[in-house]
Amino acid sequence: MMNVTPIKVEFDLPLKGGGVSTAQAWARVPRELDAVEKAAVKANIRNGLKAEDAVLVAHYYVHPDLQDLAEETGGCVADSLEMARFGNAHPAKTLVVAGVRFMGETAKILNPEKRVLMPELEATCSLDLGCPPDRFAAFCDEHPDRVVVVYANTSAAVKARADWMVTSSIALPIVRHLHAEGKKILWAPDRHLGAYIQAETGADMLLWQGACIVHDEFKALELEALMAEHPGAKVLVHPESPAAVVKLADVVGSTTQIIRAAQTLPARTFIVATDKGILHKMRALAPGKTFVEAPTAGSSATCKSCAHCPWMAMNGLAGLAHVLETGANEIHVQPAIASDARHCIQRMLDFAKGMNLAAPPSTVKGIGPA
Ligand code: 13P
Ligand code: SF4
Repeated sequence: MMNVTPIKVEFDLPLKGGGVSTAQAWARVPRELDAVEKAAVKANIRNGLKAEDAVLVAHYYVHPDLQDLAEETGGCVADSLEMARFGNAHPAKTLVVAGVRFMGETAKILNPEKRVLMPELEATCSLDLGCPPDRFAAFCDEHPDRVVVVYANTSAAVKARADWMVTSSIALPIVRHLHAEGKKILWAPDRHLGAYIQAETGADMLLWQGACIVHDEFKALELEALMAEHPGAKVLVHPESPAAVVKLADVVGSTTQIIRAAQTLPARTFIVATDKGILHKMRALAPGKTFVEAPTAGSSATCKSCAHCPWMAMNGLAGLAHVLETGANEIHVQPAIASDARHCIQRMLDFAKGMNLAAPPSTVKGIGPA
């Protein structure tokens, strides 16, 4: 039986001078293990983590088996910012990052003395692919009067060119702070997240035109129809979604923030516009509530991802066991690039100190009992 299913993915590559072209990439998704295989591989992983003084740091979009294993073994399941904070604070000598490449690179940049392994080095992100460092550097050179703010979902080389890095949980307060200081901003790479922050803060922002293949697929018209079918439901939206979808949201926030909203809001039903991998944690933390996936199908749908990131899906138990056994898939970042990139990440972590970013954001609209 084939061990991986190759998935061809099309993503937006912004062009010099405006517009976007379509480019292609591949993701290879491992086959699901049967129950006997799973038990054996999980036991190997538990032993491997202990033997290697390693901790597993996972994102909410990876397979539920990996999320559960991370928590059972003293690791964490979190959004991008918390993954970075957790790995940075944890004393383990090895960080095993189950997510996509930029998450492993961020961990390595912050912890050069630690070994950082990933189940899959090829697990990337359409935002990272859609922001090549050389083109981005040229864009920055054209606008030297702007503060460069980049989203975490970028390569180390792009971060090396930035003044600030942000994640979806802290982008608003950081841009608000820069705007209050009178700064003009160059933002990359997600055009939807950038437009959302621009609308919320009123900041002068020049936007790179990248997009997430998962969130870009949510459809506003179809979402409205679904809302009409569930009149008491609250709509939870990740801000990488298009503006027309964000406009329909009751809560806009990072993965952790929308999970907290599902836990704390009095509604019984939630429509969720983000990667469906998040539903595992939402159901565990808000038992008895109903979660409905926001629609990606519709008259203009392609559907590039059908609400599940193909690169997050590359992470599997067998790959994780393999890297712990062999030390394969270690993340390396060129020291000069890492040293330049550390600056903008550390700035964000310093800014975030003492902030409760897990709380649902202040942009909650229309909350009330369903
Ligand atoms: P969060 O930081 O909100 O988890 O987002 C990461 C991501 O890649 C969303 O697509
Ligand atoms: Fe990138 Fe989108 Fe996948 Fe997140 S869900 S890693 S933004 S492609």
